[in-house]
Amino acid sequence: MEAFETRILPVNDESLAEAAGLLAHGELVAFATETVYGLGGDATNDTAVARIFEVKDRPTFNPLICHFPSGAAAAGKVHFDERARSLAAAFWPGPLTLVLSRLHACRVSLLCSAGLDTLAVRVPAQESARRLLTLLGRPIAAPSANRSGNISPTAAAHVAEELNGRIGLILDDGPCPVGLESTVVDLSGETARLLRPGGVPTDAIEALIGPLEKPEERGPLLSPGQLASHYAPHHPLRLDASTVSGEEALLAFGGEPLTGAKMTLNLSPAGDLVEAAANLYAFLRALDSMDIEAIAAMPVPEQGLGRAINDRLRRAAVPRQGDAHTETGEMDTRRLGSLS
Ligand code: TXA
Ligand code: MG
Repeated sequence: MEAFETRILPVNDESLAEAAGLLAHGELVAFATETVYGLGGDATNDTAVARIFEVKDRPTFNPLICHFPSGAAAAGKVHFDERARSLAAAFWPGPLTLVLSRLHACRVSLLCSAGLDTLAVRVPAQESARRLLTLLGRPIAAPSANRSGNISPTAAAHVAEELNGRIGLILDDGPCPVGLESTVVDLSGETARLLRPGGVPTDAIEALIGPLEKPEERGPLLSPGQLASHYAPHHPLRLDASTVSGEEALLAFGGEPLTGAKMTLNLSPAGDLVEAAANLYAFLRALDSMDIEAIAAMPVPEQGLGRAINDRLRRAAVPRQGDAHTETGEMDTRRLGSLS
């Protein structure tokens, strides 16, 4: 598949126009959002959406997030209820994804919904992403621009590591300011459910629409094969480290990093969770590429964005299980209905 080099172009009028042209012809383009880089395709083009799964080597058709330039555009495709309106008003554009029932007239590819009668919709805040959406004039389906089982890319160079030779173009808009995927909330039923913690803290959502049912409240998964698995680094990842050895790399947090590691990267010396989230994936990736025995991660407070960071770290710490893994931030959707 890697017969050519993927081009990386900085965002400007010309490259945005070229990207929109490629998308309009069913090609895929990687682009920055405020959360992570997305692997985008025209959401109304079945072939383009199918290519997304192919390029990612996704073992299953997990449903994809559909990106829109405005809340009004998104609201035209799904049953946009009062709860959705209130969350959209507060957090869009921004790192929040809403799972809602599709309208009958919805022309978004069914493959985006992977067999469910719901669609995940989001209005990204990144200006270049919104310009691309406006230029294309159609919604863009985009999972994170990594191969299945790998970590989400937060810089154009990460996308190139993942997808070089598999797509024509990466639009480089610098490092992603949030650095962690969007929060996914399922509003398709009466009970609002948190499917994935992410860039918008759960408490801020609950303050507007009341308590969310959490993944851990949904009881045991139906079968081990449905275990929401994870990105796993190639090296073992040890959580809640209070000591570190000279053969380990340290993922530190806060003003008093442990000493003695072979190499240390500090998510946020100031203890700032937003800064830590923005650094998380790039630092895990950098440490994993070192000649070490393991990665030790210092504890991160379980509050605000810290919850999403810890969720990703816990998933990354579960060893890879053959090909059974899915990637970070994918959880629980298979319990919502049949995806086959
Ligand atoms: O921040 C983000 O959300 C990034 C950027 C590119 O927007 N995208 C992203 O996409 O993380 P992806 O495909 O890597 O993760 C999407 C998550 C998955 O857990 C998927 O299962 C869930 O959203 N999802 C998508 N559509 C769904 C649906 N109809 N019902 C339930 N879950 C859905
Ligand atoms: Mg992903």
